[in-house]
Amino acid sequence: MPPAHREGDPGTSHGCHLPPTPLIIPEIRLPFAGPPARTDSDRLRKHALAWAQRYGLIGRRGAYRLSTTSLLDLGMALCGRAPTDRAEILVCWYLWALTLDDRIDDGPWAESGELDRFITAVQDLTESGCADPSGKVSRFDDPMLVALVDDLWPQTKCWGGERWRHRLMRHLIQHLRAQATLVRMRETDTALTLAEYLPLRRDSFGALFFFDLIDAAETLDPYEHSADIEWWNTLREHGADIIAWTNDIHSIAKDVVCGERFNLVSIIADTAGIDWPAAIEAAHQMVNTVVAQFTAVAAQHASHRPGVATDPDRLRQVVRAAGDWHQTVSRYRLHATDSTAQANRQVDLKLTPPTLKSRQFEIDPYPLYERLRTTLPIAYDEPTDVWLVSRHVDVKAALTHPGASNNNYAWQIGPLLGHTMVAMDGCEHAQHRALLSPSFRSKALVALKASIISVTTDLLAHMRGRPQVDLIADFTAALPVRVMAHALGLPAGTCEEVAQLKSWCSIGFAYMGNYRQDPALLTGGLSNRDSFYDFIQPHIDARRAEPKVDLISQLLAAQVDGQPLSETYVRAYCAILMTAGSETSHGALANLIVNLLNEPGVKDAVMADPDLMDNALAETLRRNPPLQLILREARESLELPSGTIPSGATLACLIGSANRDPDQFTDPDTFNMSRTHQATSHFAFGAGRHFCLGSMLARMEITISARMLLQTFPNVRWAPGFQPTERGFLNRCPDRLEVLL
Ligand code: HEM
Repeated sequence: MPPAHREGDPGTSHGCHLPPTPLIIPEIRLPFAGPPARTDSDRLRKHALAWAQRYGLIGRRGAYRLSTTSLLDLGMALCGRAPTDRAEILVCWYLWALTLDDRIDDGPWAESGELDRFITAVQDLTESGCADPSGKVSRFDDPMLVALVDDLWPQTKCWGGERWRHRLMRHLIQHLRAQATLVRMRETDTALTLAEYLPLRRDSFGALFFFDLIDAAETLDPYEHSADIEWWNTLREHGADIIAWTNDIHSIAKDVVCGERFNLVSIIADTAGIDWPAAIEAAHQMVNTVVAQFTAVAAQHASHRPGVATDPDRLRQVVRAAGDWHQTVSRYRLHATDSTAQANRQVDLKLTPPTLKSRQFEIDPYPLYERLRTTLPIAYDEPTDVWLVSRHVDVKAALTHPGASNNNYAWQIGPLLGHTMVAMDGCEHAQHRALLSPSFRSKALVALKASIISVTTDLLAHMRGRPQVDLIADFTAALPVRVMAHALGLPAGTCEEVAQLKSWCSIGFAYMGNYRQDPALLTGGLSNRDSFYDFIQPHIDARRAEPKVDLISQLLAAQVDGQPLSETYVRAYCAILMTAGSETSHGALANLIVNLLNEPGVKDAVMADPDLMDNALAETLRRNPPLQLILREARESLELPSGTIPSGATLACLIGSANRDPDQFTDPDTFNMSRTHQATSHFAFGAGRHFCLGSMLARMEITISARMLLQTFPNVRWAPGFQPTERGFLNRCPDRLEVLL
């Protein structure tokens, strides 16, 4: 949600109003000493990473990122003088909170009641000691709850007395509830006044919760004298505000570019109607004032325990550590063209790229793509640690570059399926691909065609006589699943079987596209894989005993270097074909139907000349590709036409952007079926050695089924009041297609 438009601000294509001159982000010097250095920080870091991986909070990519950046440094600084065993737990709490915050801020997880359910479970746990009403600690679906129930809470609750526990949990729930409130306000586009924002921000940051943890980790009890309670609370609230507000000032560039308006600076600018530099100055003034208040309140109290670090000292250290971290951590790094600008802390918002984590990419990525193509064609996206490649010429060069490796799939699907064709490079890839490709060419396609016609006929027959139908539920989602299941030789005769196969495919695909590294998907993907493998094993055993004419039998007969494929590969390729063959074909068919019904004259033209369906699909795949990006890893430094990707980096080839590059496609946002050679230069099926293996099957399946739909129901049209909305990034398509037949 963009801030309100202010006079003189040039608007950008995606609705953020960027200031004409660079913003100067002030250096905020807090007059406090930092925390003592710890000698066990390596141990703490290793412990926290191993712990988070054990509980599925982070995957391989997350662990790599946390071990190569300064994101964990603040957690270490918060440990102060706590003994190592407690410091280890404190850093785990920090990582838990960091993961949760990322999850809430960046992803769809917090919406649709998920966060509210999470908070209720945390509350049950802290009130009853167990989050399961039956009295047993249940196996939660959510790894963050498992980590809390099985480990963090049992290890921490004995650190203090009842009063401390009560305060700690009150602050945790307050923190979560404030986050939930902000999520709801974002969803409902609610504006906030400064007076409403400040208490919410204090709680949403979670500092009060960490102050309680830090006390106990160091066996300090600042609340031991009841006369001091009010004093400590005031001091801590000031400390929490300093931390939250400095964070807002440092993250203003990121927030503006991502359309996040819940930031102190934006709220001041909006509510006071002042420009950005003045709003930054006002926010900085507020920080200075609260620092002065903190200092004054702290001075009112004499030290409780002379000779040891007292709580005001510790609080100062924590506040200073958080302030320094926000100022230096690369998450908030300034994107400036030259070192003078960096030194002067100038931020040119036009040079600050939108992050892939932004919800805006799920909602409508096209304005963001346009901005990337025109001003930042090769841009580093810090929150995902990925280089964004947006122009057609660069995407083509990257996908066909010999130095670009598919090793990215080692973390995208490797933990589920092991080392498979999609992650292989060079000869190894060619060998494995050669095993599968004959099954999706020439004669093999003829057999698949019969299956497509039979499945489509059956699905259309089930729609007959119904006044209104959702073509997603009743057609596009089921068709490719049934076709792929049939090709493999798996049962998909009943609705339940199809729904189960579809669910395995969707979760597997979501795991692959888990750029946000959401923990529920990381662990959900593993159990999903196990249950698919349990299902498929008897079918593999049966084909081994008695081969048939299907893909499983072909995989069992296949050989690499004279040796049969191991069963691990056979299972993994069944999973890959089932998933790759179902998810994107469903999205492409749905998008084609939208264009047939929405684009003037298209449906009539295709009905008059059914061969035009091929053009309609090609143009759909160009303009509305379901898969919006493909990752790669740079084995060496990659010289692309618009810039260089450093060796070792991960790059995101933005297919959706390349397919709408005006340098390649005239009038790229327009649906135009008469594009000829242009239409085929899209990247919906990728490019280079890993070009989609099932592209011919997909084209055949989608065009045949769409033609049969129009032949059977020539009057198909949107249900009254219905208009489809494309959503998503991994498989971008509508989730409902309500039509009258
Ligand atoms: C419209 C539907 C489809 C779309 C948009 C699509 C898209 C893609 C893309 C973009 C890639 C390249 C991935 C990369 O380079 O990292 C790919 C690869 C692949 N696709 Fe498809 N796909 C579709 C349908 C299918 C079908 C029906 C199958 C079933 C056989 C399939 C199987 C595969 C396989 C096995 C690969 C990996 C090829 C390799 O690594 O060499 N796809 N697909």
